[in-house]
Amino acid sequence: MNILLIGSGAREHALAWKIAASPLTTRLWCAPGNAGIAQEAECVALDITDHAAVIAFCQANGVDFVVVGPEGPLVAGIVDDLEAAGIKAFGPSRAAARLEGSKGFTRDLCRAHGIPSPAYERFADAATAKAYIRARGAPIVVKLDGLAAGKGVVVAATVAEAEAAVDSLAGGGELVIEDFLEGEEASFFALVDGETALPLASAQDHKRAFDGDEGPNTGGMGAYSPAPVMSEAMTRRVMAEIVTPTVRAMAAMGCPFKGVLFAGLMIGPEGPQLIEYNVRFGDPECQVLMLRLKSDLVPALVAARDGMLRSFDLRWHRETALTVVMAAEGYPGSYRKGSEIKGLAAAAALDNVEIFHAGTTAEGGRILASGGRVLSVCGLGDSVAAAQRAAYAAVDRIDWPQGFCRRDIGWRAIARERTVSAGS
Ligand code: AMP
Ligand code: GLY
Repeated sequence: MNILLIGSGAREHALAWKIAASPLTTRLWCAPGNAGIAQEAECVALDITDHAAVIAFCQANGVDFVVVGPEGPLVAGIVDDLEAAGIKAFGPSRAAARLEGSKGFTRDLCRAHGIPSPAYERFADAATAKAYIRARGAPIVVKLDGLAAGKGVVVAATVAEAEAAVDSLAGGGELVIEDFLEGEEASFFALVDGETALPLASAQDHKRAFDGDEGPNTGGMGAYSPAPVMSEAMTRRVMAEIVTPTVRAMAAMGCPFKGVLFAGLMIGPEGPQLIEYNVRFGDPECQVLMLRLKSDLVPALVAARDGMLRSFDLRWHRETALTVVMAAEGYPGSYRKGSEIKGLAAAAALDNVEIFHAGTTAEGGRILASGGRVLSVCGLGDSVAAAQRAAYAAVDRIDWPQGFCRRDIGWRAIARERTVSAGS
């Protein structure tokens, strides 16, 4: 098969690494890609917002299958446009991508189908939103309805903070205001073919920039899989109470969901609740999932597209995978581009280590940083602690003074491992 992958982050590098390893793959392109992806695929400088250009590339190069990484093109309907042109594509349609593209749509669906999620209301104007906040009290969560690249959510501790969030977000469109959920966050991924949902794996990420989960929110500074809080029993509950009813509801509405359903969960005293859906693999969660996936990824993606998951199964390594994100100094605020990263080959030569690139470019044999999140350094091990040791051993071989990373990725799971082994 000739495959085109859309995207340019470490998530797409991990996908490219798995797709390139498949015996089914004849040629693999990635648009636009990065310096790491270029080791696995032929990078093409396509404007991925120009669907006609993507279709023309597929037709000119005999592309059989397109895999879409990020949410932007999915919400913009790239899968609808490719399929209409006769090109098979992995990912949800524009209508199904509303599960990520509109928080109000997802909350309404949850309410209509009894899917555990916080009480909420939708607001088109600031005055009624503030009246609701005053009536409801704090803590409370204010969200923009649409895609906002992680900047559309304010968890407010006080009514005043929530009212200020309404003022700062209101220009961006409709608001959703919902109750604050308590518990432990976890991510859960399922592959869906419109009807059948195949559980993939769980993960936990660290969204704050600095150690101790302090500092500003980011796209994710590290992750590990599996998430210890997602026991087999909890996984069954998430499938039965959240994922399966969602898949059924989408099919019944005439917009069946195909692709990766990424459920952001809060595991509280009464069980799992849905914080949000994403309609794609997470970044950096994808990196740890791909490291643990033993089976060939390509037939799974094709089966999801073709509606053939019912008789499908995937095998996973039992080990834990953990990834540490290395970012440019200043991220998630402003940062410089163009600094050189050395030591990558020495780091990658370590056992149980895989390094995926996010924002890198190659220039005359040198690797330069060209983004905020720049590298995703992954380790594999028999425990979270062992996976963490492997990842940081690789981080320590990377010579990049202009970069930084957290030194505590996985702390919560490692503390849990210590408690369990002390108690046994
Ligand atoms: P989202 O973009 O919806 O994932 O929100 C970003 C982060 O805000 C989540 O990962 C949670 O940490 C937090 N968050 C969002 N909604 C809630 C909620 N209803 N209760 C508690 N925390 C929330
Ligand atoms: N790491 C969270 C996300 O990909 O949305």
